[in-house]
This record gives sequence, structure tokens and C-alpha cells, in this order.
Amino acid sequence: MNSTPTTRRLFLRRLLLVPTAAVLAACRGRTLDEILSGADSESDTALSNPTASLPPTLACGDDDDDPTLAQTEGPYFTPSSPERTSLLEPGIAGTRLLLTGQVLTTGCMPVAGALLDFWHCDDAGVYDNVSYRLRGHQFADANGLYTLETILPGVYTGRTRHIHVKVQAPNQPVLTTQLYFPGEPTNASDGIYHPSLEMTLLDSADGKLGAFTFVLDV
Ligand SMILES: [Fe+2]
Repeated sequence: MNSTPTTRRLFLRRLLLVPTAAVLAACRGRTLDEILSGADSESDTALSNPTASLPPTLACGDDDDDPTLAQTEGPYFTPSSPERTSLLEPGIAGTRLLLTGQVLTTGCMPVAGALLDFWHCDDAGVYDNVSYRLRGHQFADANGLYTLETILPGVYTGRTRHIHVKVQAPNQPVLTTQLYFPGEPTNASDGIYHPSLEMTLLDSADGKLGAFTFVLDV
């Protein structure tokens, strides 16, 4: 089903605002394309009327306004990646992942136009250091929202499953960090892994739906 960008943004914003259990119920049985397009969202009570089960504002509080932890860039960053929100390519192997979230300040204000530059290895744990496969940058919208379509990164020797990212508010310093996946057996043995950088991860009908809020020290 086709959907307007505005509808998609509204739906994704609701995904961030409703409690995890409600999101899980809303996404169960749906494909990622349906979730991304907001299909049938208006018929879903949890998503069409999020205020029924929500606090009045975005839940920024004691544990939500600490700046996102910085981590090493690693050896495989390539500058000048293409601007795109989907890293999917025809025939690419792996489990689809739809990652969405918001970029906030430590005062819980959205960072409009924040730069997000993602890169990660392929399903076999290999980075493309020749071209820009599985690399891309984008800019958050006026509400600080971002969406990335990609695949689950593989696991390579010495590291647990992770996605590299740089996040930058306009005219501010760059935050370089990594995102992790809950429940990975190799998280505990990875010397770089940090639990505060775990995304929320849910199953969809044909992949995974992830969410992560970045907090920039601005
Ligand atoms: Fe890496």
C-alpha cells in the first residue's frame, strides 16, 4: 500500500510514543512495508489513539536525558556516503531491519535536521570498503525523526552484532557511536558493547523493527 510521507512520519512518530507492548501488538503479523507505510494504522486502537495509554509528553526523564555514549569509530568508516534512508539493494542477503527513532537534546528537544551517517557489515560479517554498500547518511526531519531500512548486520570475529553511526546536530560536534541488539549471545564477551546503546527490537512478519533515541549534548 502506498502512503504519503506525512502519513509515514505520523505513523513512525506514534511508534516512538506508544508503549513497547502496544507497539508489539500493533506490529505483530505485519510486514515491514506495511509498518513503514502505516497501513491500517487508523484501524489500530493503540496507534490511532496513542493518548489513551500515554503520558502527555514524550517520556524524557531521569534516564532519558543523558547524552548518548560515544564509542570508537572503528577501522571501516568511509566519508561522503550517499544520502539515502534505505541501504537495501536487490538480492541483498539477510534479515530486513527497519530502524527508527529520534534525535533529541539533553533538554528533550528534537534536533531538526540532525545528520545521521550509518554504516555496518553485511550478513556475512564483511564490510564493503570499496564502494558504499550498506553505508548512507540522512537528515532527521523537523521533529528529529529518522528511519533507516537495512538488514541485520552479521557477526564477525571479536565483535558482537552492531551498527556504526555518526550523529551531528547542525553546527555542533559529531557524536560517533555504535548501536547494539538485545539478546545477542556475544554481547557479554564484546569489550566495546554497552547496554545503554541497545536498541529496542521487535519482530515483524518479515524482519525486525528497531528503535533508538539519540541524545546529543547540545
Ligand atoms: Fe564494526
